[in-house]
Amino acid sequence: MNKETLCILGCGGFIGSHLLDRVLASKAYRVVGMDLSSKKISRHLSDKNLTFVQADIYRGKKLKECIEKSDTVISLAALCNPSLYNTTPIRVIENNFTQPLEVVALCAALKKRLIHFSTCEVYGRTTSSYDKKDKKQPIEIFNEDRSPFVLGPVSAQRWTYACAKQLHERLIYAYGFENDLAFTIVRPFNFIGPRMDFIPGVDGEGLPRVIACFMEALLFGQPLKLVDGGKNRRCFTYIDDAINAIMAIIQKPGKTRGQIFNVGSPGNECSISELALRMKDIYRMITGKSAKDCGKIINVSSESFYGKGYDDSNRRVPDIAKAKKLLGWSPRVGLDEALTKTITAYLLEYGNEPGKKGGRAWK
Ligand code: NAD
Ligand code: UGA
Repeated sequence: MNKETLCILGCGGFIGSHLLDRVLASKAYRVVGMDLSSKKISRHLSDKNLTFVQADIYRGKKLKECIEKSDTVISLAALCNPSLYNTTPIRVIENNFTQPLEVVALCAALKKRLIHFSTCEVYGRTTSSYDKKDKKQPIEIFNEDRSPFVLGPVSAQRWTYACAKQLHERLIYAYGFENDLAFTIVRPFNFIGPRMDFIPGVDGEGLPRVIACFMEALLFGQPLKLVDGGKNRRCFTYIDDAINAIMAIIQKPGKTRGQIFNVGSPGNECSISELALRMKDIYRMITGKSAKDCGKIINVSSESFYGKGYDDSNRRVPDIAKAKKLLGWSPRVGLDEALTKTITAYLLEYGNEPGKKGGRAWK
């Protein structure tokens, strides 16, 4: 049987590694994967349905060769860690806009289907958040085809990533319009789960996203830091739910052509301060540790944590009606279950020597 070939760019990252698990387990696809790193996918490297190219996507001729061999290209590669947006903004714009232009042009020229990963950050902030008198943050549900994009000023360099991703979406859309590119755009809303980012000082350096920051604090008895009081809100989406949506997109090229999809769990919305409390409680329940053996929850300013030019989305709630209708998809995993699964996986991975930094990479 002639299997469909997927080219997965960034297959060694958090989402990519979970997508590989699912796609290879189905035995229905061949995969040509590219990434700088293979440490989260080492268990798949001997799979006969995977050809893995460990290389920089944008250097050399490998990208074209990989795309030529495939039917569908799934572009996940990105610098998507908020601590970089205001500290290495040129690299962030290049990696999220300039460099992936080549992927779009190749897909158009070679007539390949493109599934591109954008971000819920393109929506920016809620419009009402600019009304300083309004303390309540009324709900504004972000819709793919109707909501405006509300980003801060250029000096607030946090928005380099959102702006680069936004312009990239517009370019893909334009290729669909002018060159008949078959595309689908995905806007993930805070996917979480095992293998997310890294634990600083163990298998990476710098500041990871919030789940890994809080896991580092819990595992090593350090404070859980709430940036500017942890008042901002997110809809955390468990990775298994997210992969269900991505598989539906892969399997429905006709219905998803030319569409943009929010993929997120509106029912899992919480503030970051609530997240810290819930993670601490669940961690204590799993480990049996007392409150005093776990790190305290403290407040820090965004400038001291991320540096100058940081800004933040106050609230991001997805409208998922389109995903429900066209993909037949709904998220199923609630926040406590998602956090329990995630914390358990981190404990298995890094918690074998409690209190000591000496873990290993995800197997
Ligand atoms: P990740 O950082 O875990 O994975 C990205 C992968 O891309 C990494 O393995 C990295 O090595 C690889 N990569 C980057 N530049 C490369 C290059 N030049 N050559 C080869 N490999 C390169 O990120 P993730 O969380 O898996 O996110 C994947 C995509 O989804 C990104 O485009 C991101 O913007 C988007 N996204 C993710 C989330 C989320 O909740 N995780 C939310 C919104 C958007
Ligand atoms: C993320 C990243 O931009 C991308 O990975 C992605 O495109 C998108 O949003 C997404 O995941 O949907 P953000 O949600 O701000 O951005 O990412 P986190 O770093 O996980 O931060 C979430 C919130 O927690 C922010 O308000 C941040 O200031 C706060 N935070 C983070 C803390 O209070 N303490 C910490 O230790 C870390």
